[in-house]
Amino acid sequence: MGINLSEKQIKEWRGVVVVTDPTWGDNGKGKIVDLLSSRAQMSIRYNGGPNAGHTVRNEHGEFKFHLIPSAIFNPDCLSIIANTVVIDPIKLGEEILALRKAGIAVTEKNLLIGQNAHLIMPWHRIRDNFAEMIRTGEKIGTTGKGIGPTYADRTERLGLQMRDLVGSDFEKKFVREIDRQERLISVMEGKEYHFEKKEMYEQLLSAREILAPLVNEVMEKIDSFHQKGKRILGEAGQGALLDLDLGTYPFVTSSHPGVVGFNLATTIPVKSINEVIAVTKAYTTRVGAGPMPTEDTGALGERIREIGKEFGTTTGRPRRCGWLDIPALRYGAQVAGADSLALTKLDIFDEFDEINLCVGYELGGHQVDKISHADALFLHEARPILKSFPGWGENTTQIRDYEKLPQNARHFIEKIEEMVKVPIKIVSVGANRIETIYR
Ligand code: GDP
Ligand code: IMO
Ligand code: MG
Repeated sequence: MGINLSEKQIKEWRGVVVVTDPTWGDNGKGKIVDLLSSRAQMSIRYNGGPNAGHTVRNEHGEFKFHLIPSAIFNPDCLSIIANTVVIDPIKLGEEILALRKAGIAVTEKNLLIGQNAHLIMPWHRIRDNFAEMIRTGEKIGTTGKGIGPTYADRTERLGLQMRDLVGSDFEKKFVREIDRQERLISVMEGKEYHFEKKEMYEQLLSAREILAPLVNEVMEKIDSFHQKGKRILGEAGQGALLDLDLGTYPFVTSSHPGVVGFNLATTIPVKSINEVIAVTKAYTTRVGAGPMPTEDTGALGERIREIGKEFGTTTGRPRRCGWLDIPALRYGAQVAGADSLALTKLDIFDEFDEINLCVGYELGGHQVDKISHADALFLHEARPILKSFPGWGENTTQIRDYEKLPQNARHFIEKIEEMVKVPIKIVSVGANRIETIYR
């Protein structure tokens, strides 16, 4: 298991590589997927939905994808949106049109959409916001994109799928579903609720026109590529600490960003994945509510947010920032199934005199340096134990050779991998595809 991720080895890569995120998302998955995509033959976005925002910056410009797989720029790679992703058809249609406008071909030759993927409809967003409104404790701070209610309908075995949208009896199914949802929302709101059916239906028909040629049975394709030993790339949404079952519940999303999510989407056994790369920034961020032991609400958090431009890709909300949380990262890497780490945004610390790592937590006089579950109550109360490292005071964005990084930067990187117990094989020193160091 495991591949060497030197640039040369990426060129020679065979088999399956999954790119995921060990913490609370936004660690730079889009960048790393784009980086690997040039060699991929198939790429699969495997969980979540338009709550994701993945930034890609390459020779085509800067793009922020919510549903489109970040490997879309390789015309020879078949990108797939898996059955386990929840899709807002109107939003996906818009993303496809925007890409075509930018001169990127999107056809059934390079993008397929799983026919069993569930559709996010306007009522899901209403229910998402309603659920937040009536929460008595701390709100989750969801993205408001309707993710939870769409997965809830799927769990209840209700709702519409992609195959319904492109099927001949869509109108009938749409009417039946809207009736059910109107009854549900009327009960929730305590008054009669009606949707603008005609307008909504027309919008869906326009989206259908764009999406229909791309909707297909994808499992057979995935299996056949896998059986032939082709290079398959997985792309997660969110991050392992937002996993429904293993994250900081209830402050989580409704899907599985780790390696099991890839398995659920593809049937490719976890043991036949060649490398799971967990992408983490050199510091920690979180958007939305929930515990974050290293959050700094003062000048430091502000400084990281300013230099790191830490504002949500999907909602524009300021991200909560703090030092890299090693115990959380170590646990998240375990949930993610990480074989290696890609460390991004090292360059954000170029002008810092001092950098800290959270090496453990303190609570009620007890110290821990490792956690085996993401207990939200514990993490709310835990105080970070910090270890200080000297900065390097040098611009790293032009560096492409690990040995040419300043000594202090290498020391910092090597301490992280030593404590997380997962090797760092990629170091990213800028948002652009080329601003990357392979080890
Ligand atoms: P994702 O959701 O994991 O794909 O990450 P996002 O795209 O939401 O957020 C990551 C942000 O960091 C994006 O704006 C990227 O362009 C940017 N980025 C990624 N890697 C680097 C890096 O090494 N240095 C800098 N300065 N920016 C980076
Ligand atoms: P990418 O793929 C960061 C967070 C939300 C909220 C919680 C639940 O760009 O890394 P949801 O709308 O999913 O029900 O919200 O999860 N969240 C993300 N945070 N990056 C993401 O995606 C996220 N997707 C959801 O902020 O706290
Ligand atoms: Mg993001």
